[in-house]
Amino acid sequence: MRVGIASDHGGYGQKDQIAAFIRSLGHEVVDFGPFSPDPVDYPDYADKVGRAVSRGELDRGVLLCGTGLGMAITADKIPGVRAAAIQSIEFAELFREHNDGNVLALSGRFVAPEANERLVKIFLETEASPEARHRNRVEKIMREDDPAFEGVDA
Ligand code: RB5
Repeated sequence: MRVGIASDHGGYGQKDQIAAFIRSLGHEVVDFGPFSPDPVDYPDYADKVGRAVSRGELDRGVLLCGTGLGMAITADKIPGVRAAAIQSIEFAELFREHNDGNVLALSGRFVAPEANERLVKIFLETEASPEARHRNRVEKIMREDDPAFEGVDA
C-alpha cells in the first residue's frame, strides 16, 4: 500500500522510526513532514495527509502528534477520511474491522514507539469486515460528507 505519514513537533521524535517500520512491512511511505523538530501546527499536517487520502493518492495515512487527538479531529473533517486516535490493540483492530478506518492518529508523547509500531501493523494488516451490518454503518458515516444530507429524523 501507499501510506502517507506526518507529524507535529509532539510526534516528530517517532516519525522516522514509524516510517521505517511501515517500509519494513513492505509498503511505500510518503513523508509529508515536518523535517525538523521545530514547533508546527498539527492541523496543517493532518490536512496534507488527509487530503491526499481523500484524493485517492494514498491508501492509508498515519499521523503523530502529542496525543493523536488534534490530528484525528482535523483529518476526520476531510471528506472520505475516517480517522481516529488509537492507543490499544483492540481499538486498532476494531477501527479497521468495524469502521474501515483509513487514517490512524498516534500519540508521540504518551505511547512508546514500539507500542505504536504494533498499532500500525494491525492498522495496515487488518481487513475491514465484509459483514453487511458494518458496511451499512460505514456508508452511514460517509453520508455525513454529503452537503445534501439533512440528517436523520430526530
Ligand atoms: C502540541 O503541543 C499538542 O497540542 C499536539 O501535539 C497534540 O497533542 C494535539 O492534539
